[in-house]
Amino acid sequence: MEVKVSVDNIVNIKADAIIVNAFAGVKRLDGDIAAVDASLGGVITQLINQGEIKGKLNEITLIHSLGKLPAARVIVTGLGKPAELSLNKIRGAVAETCRWLRQKGIANIATVAQGAGLNDITPESAAQAITEGALLGLYSFRRYITSKGDKYREIKQLLIAGNKEVKHSLQRGITKGKVLAEATNLARDMVNEPANYMTPTQMAMTAETLAEDYGLEVSVLDMEQIQDLGMGALLGVAQGSQQPPKFSILHHRGSNSGKIAVALVGKGITFDSGGISIKPSEKMDEMKGDMAGGAAVIAAITAIAQLNPKINVTAIIPATENLPSGSALKPGDILTTLSGKTIEVVNTDAEGRLVLADALGYATQLKPRHIIDVATLTGACMVALGHVCTGAFGSNQALMDKVIAAGNEAGELIWQMPMYDEYKEQIKSNVADIKNVGNRYGGAITAAKFLAEFTDNTPWVHLDIAGTSQSEKEQGYLVKGATGVPVRTLVNLVLALTK
Ligand code: BES
Ligand code: MN
Ligand code: ZN
Repeated sequence: MEVKVSVDNIVNIKADAIIVNAFAGVKRLDGDIAAVDASLGGVITQLINQGEIKGKLNEITLIHSLGKLPAARVIVTGLGKPAELSLNKIRGAVAETCRWLRQKGIANIATVAQGAGLNDITPESAAQAITEGALLGLYSFRRYITSKGDKYREIKQLLIAGNKEVKHSLQRGITKGKVLAEATNLARDMVNEPANYMTPTQMAMTAETLAEDYGLEVSVLDMEQIQDLGMGALLGVAQGSQQPPKFSILHHRGSNSGKIAVALVGKGITFDSGGISIKPSEKMDEMKGDMAGGAAVIAAITAIAQLNPKINVTAIIPATENLPSGSALKPGDILTTLSGKTIEVVNTDAEGRLVLADALGYATQLKPRHIIDVATLTGACMVALGHVCTGAFGSNQALMDKVIAAGNEAGELIWQMPMYDEYKEQIKSNVADIKNVGNRYGGAITAAKFLAEFTDNTPWVHLDIAGTSQSEKEQGYLVKGATGVPVRTLVNLVLALTK
């Protein structure tokens, strides 16, 4: 779908449908919706007075214009109470409206800069939210659907209407929204891809192709180089699989200073069966998405390359499968990490923290100012926070606050979890420096305490996206399957750190 600015009044736009907004509790219309209402002979006012249009959030009302406007249809989308409007509500309402129009087979649509002027929402931020809502909400993963049976149509064009004064602001919002949404959809594609296609090698090749496309520096370490560096934990997880592990590194060089401002580390388990500590078969298919952290950091750095902030950013992705076999890692095995620290593997299903131990070790050697890691790390985090928030754990409150703010801006909710040293008791080992699991309770925190051991005092935040990386249902701008969380948060963070 193409998103463009139209310097035309919404009442003059010829489209299959134009979208205007009603608000809860607002009976007297003004602005664009008033102009549309006048052209329609007061139909909207009448529907409001009859109680059919209430202006509730995500309420959709279709009015056929029957020649009274150049546009064939008017859609009135509710945005709820004006005082409660946020960019994220706009994203969601636009997404729901766009899917509704797509299912009607409508090809060309136009909208006003929804919400602009309310609650600090500028024409630029409204245009960005509209663009994100439309592109994210209309996402679908159809690569492997060959049946022609179900007619599938796409919305071809979305115009955002505004006058000459706001034209450039709208265009800036569209451009940024498009970069962010497309990067998010790229991460979604990688996560939705089945594990027989998205192997560690394929993940590394995807990183290489994207690096070429967006002008990023890239290197992919193969098995031998991983061995030479001494990444015993990554190798340990990989040894049960027929697929060789890959360790990808991408650099965005926006500044001449040698310093890396942010290292983004993403868990890249392309399939997590649990290994010898095998998982139950129910829902095991969802573990094709256990590389969502890796996909997010790859996608985020492609967006960063496009927005080109004057700052250096590195993305690091340790990728492997976690499978049981005659050569697989066994409970009780002891591994030596890149940092030299040893790990007793009590449970082979706690593999994410093993590959991250080496990746965080590698990241700290680069001496970045900040490290953010992203991982579908623990079922415990999903138990604690559900699908609503990502869990955040960290060593530096200033960085933590910036990450949470970047998440709020994106509408990707983040909740900070505790990091008291008392939790470390659980992962003390009798035979190695540390063990890879604690007891049943507080599992998301003990996992984070484990990771902290490999960050060497670099300001660091760990994002556990086990609950937020996939959505069980269509809702707002999320569709069933991969969400692409936290791509937009990471990009916002990097932009904020550039200032
Ligand atoms: N990839 C899983 C965590 C996960 C579970 C992500 C559900 C998304 C949805 C991780 O590797 C894992 O298996 N964690 C174990 C840790 C346990 C063995 C300490 C878990 O959460 O059960
Ligand atoms: Mn696991
Ligand atoms: Zn896992």
